[in-house]
Amino acid sequence: MKQVAFTLSATDGMARRGRIDTPRGEINTPAFMPVGTAGTVKAMYPEQVRETGADILLGNTYHLMLRPGAERVASLGGLHTFMNWERPILTDSGGFQVMSLAKLRKLTEKGVTFKSHIDGTAYELTPERSIEIQTLLDSDIIMQLDECIALPAERKEMERAMELSLRWADRSKTAFNNQPNRALFGIVQGGDDPELRARSAAGLKSIGFDGYAVGGLAVGEPQEVMFRVLSDITPELPQDRPRYLMGVGKPDDILGGIERGIDMFDCVHPTRAGRHGHAYTRFGVINLKNARHKDDHRPLDAESPNPNCRRWSRAYLHHLVKSEEILAAMVLSQINLSYYQELTAGARVAIEAGRINDFAAETRAAWATGDL
Ligand code: GUN
Repeated sequence: MKQVAFTLSATDGMARRGRIDTPRGEINTPAFMPVGTAGTVKAMYPEQVRETGADILLGNTYHLMLRPGAERVASLGGLHTFMNWERPILTDSGGFQVMSLAKLRKLTEKGVTFKSHIDGTAYELTPERSIEIQTLLDSDIIMQLDECIALPAERKEMERAMELSLRWADRSKTAFNNQPNRALFGIVQGGDDPELRARSAAGLKSIGFDGYAVGGLAVGEPQEVMFRVLSDITPELPQDRPRYLMGVGKPDDILGGIERGIDMFDCVHPTRAGRHGHAYTRFGVINLKNARHKDDHRPLDAESPNPNCRRWSRAYLHHLVKSEEILAAMVLSQINLSYYQELTAGARVAIEAGRINDFAAETRAAWATGDL
């Protein structure tokens, strides 16, 4: 019996409200997954991440394979025990690093060899080894190894990477061997070409996956191109499986993804932007580095449900950021992750009520007021 199952509970236009049940707990969708690349969501305690509303975290095959090593994590009880996060974890396969670490890797039909960015040691990642590592980590949702390429790209190049990713999808499915307690997701590639994307989706569907990710987006293309690809591709994906837009994005990208039928998102942006002094609120993003906050006694958002948005002045937060205090990274990571969860929770309620269009309009109008 499959222990990871998706239930679609409401739709509104293309937007979907659902739930993924796993042995480690349920994931309410649309969901935003905070990124814990190296076994930690940077500057956050695990229970604090949970308190923001996150049902699931993302971990990375590539980083954990290099340090501390997948076999070591397994012998220490798996990633959940190692980092003290007992709820679901989705692990990415290393496919993104094929692009982001292009200078440190060699690609063949068999797989990809990386030169460690830490000490230069060579690591071979094949579709089979990626599944093995994610299984050693005890991941709940495993991603196939794929080849993510940057845009813009030649059609021939997008076609080659998409077809290689499909062959790797097939090998991943065999290696995964229908493990009942976890899910395996395929990844749609094909760049900005509708025909390549459709071929990728059809190929993945005929192999059969527990969920379908859309990869190769937010890699240099304008937002309107990403939205066009999403509007074209989600109708091609099975209704009864979750859809995951990888590596996206800013709040406006997430809202646009939800409106186009995406169920899951992940991005380093909220935590990274927090470490750089940016705060996401209902009224848009505030750059706390800016000297205009120096004497501003107002809190970030007096009406926010998040106490961290109410209890300090903008002047104090500006001071923490300018002084490069550790507390600045902690507070702003918490504020940003909380806002992302407030946004997805709001979308879930709106889809149930059949008012996603109004919710999206109201949310965008509040961002545009910039009451900062
Ligand atoms: N993260 C963001 N985009 C991608 C992608 O295309 N593939 C993988 N594996 N991870 C991603």
